[in-house]
Amino acid sequence: MRKPVIAGNWKMNKTVEESRSLVYDLSIGLRDIKGVEKVLLPPYLSILTAAALLEGTDIGLGAQNLHWEEKGAFTGEISAQMIAEFCQYVLIGHSERRTYFGESDETVNKKIFSAIAHNLIPIVCVGETLGEKETGQTGEVLVRQILNGLKDVTKEYVSAIIIAYEPVWAIGTGKASSAEDARNVIRDIIRPVLQEMYGVQAANSTRVLYGGSVTAANASGFFVHEDIDGALVGGASLKADEFVKITQAGAG
Ligand code: PGA
Repeated sequence: MRKPVIAGNWKMNKTVEESRSLVYDLSIGLRDIKGVEKVLLPPYLSILTAAALLEGTDIGLGAQNLHWEEKGAFTGEISAQMIAEFCQYVLIGHSERRTYFGESDETVNKKIFSAIAHNLIPIVCVGETLGEKETGQTGEVLVRQILNGLKDVTKEYVSAIIIAYEPVWAIGTGKASSAEDARNVIRDIIRPVLQEMYGVQAANSTRVLYGGSVTAANASGFFVHEDIDGALVGGASLKADEFVKITQAGAG
């Protein structure tokens, strides 16, 4: 049995003051929802405030990125060691980081190792662009991202990793993938690669989420499919009531 995960990626939104109010509302709205792992991914600056407000709750906290080195002369960066003081999760390889900040499968791989070394649960994003989809390259792209991103990650760690399938064309566009298409990609491409790399049991215990324009209105459509283990939510995670409804749908 894979426990569903609903993670809210706030991206570069919310000041510390605004975060305080959103975390407060969420802590109340999410309090009685059980059977689902709830994760908030606020900007770095809001992490401390969120951690204090979430103490004693079952709501997890994560960062949106990390640097793979432990410490040193890397101006502007934050390491896994620093994140692990307050967080349990870290987002790795989001398509916006791949597109705007030169993130590659190789850096994704280094970041996964660093996260694991500090007991952080990596939420690793993979997904094809519109051009790649239209030219029939979805399978090839996802296989490459997973093979290279998870290179040398051993079986004992893989089921602690969460994969988020986020087709780039669906992110922030209001044009979510159909639930069936997302299910097919996860069932027919992503899980088979994991199976090839780690065997059936490990592949079946690894959680794979869908992300890309998930809303309260469309969320439950994804979760009826047993291959979809939850969602990585962007825009809709900035509104407490929306995120609460999506989490409720994830809890089933
Ligand atoms: P969206 O973003 O829900 O706003 O499409 C998803 C994501 O980027 O993780």
